[in-house]
Amino acid sequence: MIIFNLKTYAESTGKNAQNIVEMLENLTSEGKVAGDKFTVAPSVLDIGHLRKQFRNINIMSQNVSAKSPGSNTGWITPENLLGNEITFSLYNHSENRVLGSSFVEDIRNIQSRGIKLIVCVENLDEAALALEAEAFGIAYEPKELIGSGVSVTTKPDEVIAFLNLVKGRTMPFVGAGVSTGEDVLKCKELGAEGIILASAFVKAQDKEAKALELLNV
Ligand code: G3P
Repeated sequence: MIIFNLKTYAESTGKNAQNIVEMLENLTSEGKVAGDKFTVAPSVLDIGHLRKQFRNINIMSQNVSAKSPGSNTGWITPENLLGNEITFSLYNHSENRVLGSSFVEDIRNIQSRGIKLIVCVENLDEAALALEAEAFGIAYEPKELIGSGVSVTTKPDEVIAFLNLVKGRTMPFVGAGVSTGEDVLKCKELGAEGIILASAFVKAQDKEAKALELLNV
């Protein structure tokens, strides 16, 4: 499973997000890639209409909070996502950290309200907290490699230590700098079940060719 995190790049928001998801849907309906091999995480402003328009594509949120419905201006609640038929979200991404004293409690709270979380972590201590909270998935991303084009697989010892901790207890993802089909293959060989990936796909001149390269490993 690859999560294409569209972040807030100009190349992957608004009309461009729509073009990307349409291209991925075409690849899926033409049988060139399997739809269950990937999920798209668009900007929250794009998520509702993309969910309605592209029924055969897995779509998840980049973020959610444990806030309740009500007077919480600007926050995203689990109920907001469920109302848009979204049931998965990233959480605690390196670019949107929420780690604090209520981390474990908040993960439990959000998941109890129907949203499955892929919790991003930067080290094993954070991974242990996400395990304690019984996160649906945990994604290890070394912050310094995000957007660098240098794959997380260049740190195999760190990846293996992470996988040894979480495997069999949650769905393990890795990410940061994953750029090529070969990088994806190495992630899988190390034992990752999922990969989070952004810039190599979003910034590719030919996104269709890049999607085929990354998804047909
Ligand atoms: O969420 C995935 C992300 O942080 C990795 O980004 O650009 O290194 O693939 P990138």
